[in-house]
Amino acid sequence: MGEGHLPVLVDEVLASLAVGPGSSVADCTVGGGGHAERLLETASPGGRLLGIDADRAAIAEAERVLARFGDRVVLRHANFESIYDTATDAGFVPLDAVLFDLGLSSYQLADPDRGFSFAAPGPPDMRFDETSGLSALELIERSSERELAGIIATFGEERRAGRIAKAIVAARTAGRIMTAAELAAIVESVAPSRHGPGARIHPATRTFQALRIAVNREIEVLSAGLAGALAALGPGGRMAVISYHSLEDRIVKRFVARESRDCIEEPLPPACTCGHRAQLRAVTKGVITPGPDEVRRNRRARSAKLRVAEKLDGRAQGGG
Ligand SMILES: C[S@@+](CC[C@H](N)C(=O)[O-])C[C@H]1O[C@@H](n2cnc3c(N)ncnc32)[C@H](O)[C@@H]1O
Repeated sequence: MGEGHLPVLVDEVLASLAVGPGSSVADCTVGGGGHAERLLETASPGGRLLGIDADRAAIAEAERVLARFGDRVVLRHANFESIYDTATDAGFVPLDAVLFDLGLSSYQLADPDRGFSFAAPGPPDMRFDETSGLSALELIERSSERELAGIIATFGEERRAGRIAKAIVAARTAGRIMTAAELAAIVESVAPSRHGPGARIHPATRTFQALRIAVNREIEVLSAGLAGALAALGPGGRMAVISYHSLEDRIVKRFVARESRDCIEEPLPPACTCGHRAQLRAVTKGVITPGPDEVRRNRRARSAKLRVAEKLDGRAQGGG
């Protein structure tokens, strides 16, 4: 599958998920199997792992990497928005631990045919699951300038979204956007780096992030995935989420905060009428981030943020 993928925050994930012998674990983003391998070792003897990925190539790689664990591993090509049904069908509910390591893998980034990278000579596809939905190129071709600007502003938090959308539509009209590299060059031509040509962050980073999020419905599926994971966990089970940009982290943070409260009415009334009951408690205060050594070894780790929460047992009270 090309270049290797170094899993991020592995020791921190293992320690905070409290996986042990016999644990039943779901890795919702199994990728190249890096975290899964360590989770299975920690769950030995007897522990089982359900590995899910939207990318067929990732499932094939995980199958190869995890082959030595035999029937302790079950792999499914699926979107984690259906984690509850997938885990139920595979006989994994209730789960002791669930991991989400969001975003894309180094394999996907390095594959020129996937169009995730600024240098890719192929069309910007950017789908995790190439078998469903629109590619980024199709999205560009079908969206109005206003829609593109909205996508880039909202999912890329890019202040120059209007200018970028205008340039993309002009290039599209002139039949110029065919490859991811051309798309990156068009963005750069109207929104150059503020830090000069040698800047560490490519000027098209936010635009590419925005298109990837839109194509994969990342915001929507993350919310559904977290809710499904919570439903699939048993009492005392834990979920860990590693995110790589602020939109994702905000969703995770708000989900944990909301599910840690008894009443979710705003402002808090004298007597609760919503009936919501806390189901989670945050295990980490704030986020866990990689240390400088890990960031030196693995550049992808630099933006990682890990949050961990534990499912309360039904009778326990939350922080209301
Ligand atoms: C950062 S990589 C995971 C790497 C993995 N932890 C490892 O150690 O090899 C993220 C993976 O999640 C997958 N993915 C992203 N969104 C997904 C979704 N909604 N459902 C299922 N898989 C998804 C991607 O295809 C990719 O393989």
